[in-house]
Amino acid sequence: METHKPHLLSVIVVLAVLSFLHVQNSQAARLNPAEAGILMPTEKDGPEVDDDGKEIGTRWAVLVAGSRGYGNYRHQADVCHAYQLLRKGGIKEENIVVFMYDDIAEHELNPRPGVIINHPQGDDVYAGVPKDYTGAQVTTENLYAVLLGNKSAVKGGSGKVVDSMPNDRIFLYYSDHGGPGVLGMPNLPFLYAMDLIDVLKKKHASGSYKEMVMYIEACESGSIFQGIMPKDINIYVTTASNAEESSWGTYCPGMEPSPPPEYVTCLGDLYSVSWMEDSETHNLKTETIEQQYHLVKERTSNYNTFSIGSHVMQYGNESIKGEKLYLYQGFDPADVNFSPNNVHIGGRMDAVNQRDAELVFLWQMYKRSEDGSEKKTQILNQIKETVRHRAHLDSSVELIGTLLFGPKKGSAILKSVREPGSPLVDDWICLKSMVRRFETHCGSLTQYGMKHMRAFANICNGGVSQASMEEACFAACSGQDSGDLHRSDQGYSA
Ligand SMILES: *[C@@H]1O[C@H](CO)[C@@H](O)[C@H](O)[C@H]1NC(C)=O
Ligand SMILES: *[C@@H]1O[C@H](CO)[C@@H](O)[C@H](O)[C@H]1NC(C)=O
Repeated sequence: METHKPHLLSVIVVLAVLSFLHVQNSQAARLNPAEAGILMPTEKDGPEVDDDGKEIGTRWAVLVAGSRGYGNYRHQADVCHAYQLLRKGGIKEENIVVFMYDDIAEHELNPRPGVIINHPQGDDVYAGVPKDYTGAQVTTENLYAVLLGNKSAVKGGSGKVVDSMPNDRIFLYYSDHGGPGVLGMPNLPFLYAMDLIDVLKKKHASGSYKEMVMYIEACESGSIFQGIMPKDINIYVTTASNAEESSWGTYCPGMEPSPPPEYVTCLGDLYSVSWMEDSETHNLKTETIEQQYHLVKERTSNYNTFSIGSHVMQYGNESIKGEKLYLYQGFDPADVNFSPNNVHIGGRMDAVNQRDAELVFLWQMYKRSEDGSEKKTQILNQIKETVRHRAHLDSSVELIGTLLFGPKKGSAILKSVREPGSPLVDDWICLKSMVRRFETHCGSLTQYGMKHMRAFANICNGGVSQASMEEACFAACSGQDSGDLHRSDQGYSA
């Protein structure tokens, strides 16, 4: 695991920017806009119209946190923050559907019970977030039913769905772990890229929206769309990372900027806080989706260092990005005086790749517990088990590659990356069934093991039969301790 020493210059930049922001915010709070002679948007009677004078339909949003566990605090924090942002922008609660496991605010490790923050100096973002789909209801099936507006297909929850009309716009935001071709969900199964694309095509075929914008944060999130996202279904997507790299958690303990000292977990994710903090410091009636894309891309790359950071990507119909952000995220009148050229907040930030964030969390817990205590031993055991389980997954996949393709080529075939722009796999049904065979013999992939999805995809691309895969998985994993195989690494579950 890498840790980064805060660079003195970057700390100074961050402090300078934060104090600048503070001044901005307190000025905004102090000034009465009318007294200060600041132009306010006139409240027109009747329907809101866009730049072309066309009436704006209803704005819908679907917000999804795909994880659970206190070590994954940041994903639900991101989603709660997004909810507050949209509400301030005037999007109605009845038009925002929230998926979150909801095990953070009241978690025994949460130093501020009932409160969730998404920034070191941030206010509570949890209060008022509707519990549409929580706990066992946070599933891919429910997400698809909600997107399709199919009330009768929803299981449990508030029953709220995207009941959209042809002139409506939809904003979908997702934050969690992922892997090539998959996004995590707190309840299995994972979301498979091709299933999501099929749902989007179906939604388009139903003619029940005008345009959709999707922001997706996860490791390898580009692989969800690369080579399979149509350009003709009126959807524009940006992802936190390309098809081959991690996305990054930020505001993590021991890093800069760091959360308040009592927090042992990361508060946010780099791409996610970048778009939200950008939206909060710009006038969304003038900023375009494209402008936000460029600013977020720059910040998520950590200003083109990429040492800790990722490549923000775009897919789908790129004409849509010329539109103003308020058409999807609403407009907060308090932001009217921010210009599109507003200084972008946030300097270079320390970050940890999504897959190591859990270890950072456990290590913080370990460091902070009393020497010689039973708790310290327990946490140490959990760290050992996590590391051992990861090694088990890595070595099993490696061994299966050797059994299928021989010792010389195995590893290279499993790791190979197809031509730029190609889909991860041609046969998505094959991919699912290869994963199922692996899990039957070698145990659950877990959120860490999603990183091996490319290996399974390449096994399909290499034309391996199901019978050969079955044999290889059995040979590689038979006789393993089943306790080892079936642990879940969804985070500290005390
Ligand atoms: C809605 O879901 C139900 C149950 O899964 C299904 O039978 C029905 O065909 C769906 N309706 C539409 C319009 O897709
Ligand atoms: C892309 O979106 C624009 C703007 O909505 C639309 O005019 C154009 O037809 C779309 N392109 C395709 C290929 O659907």
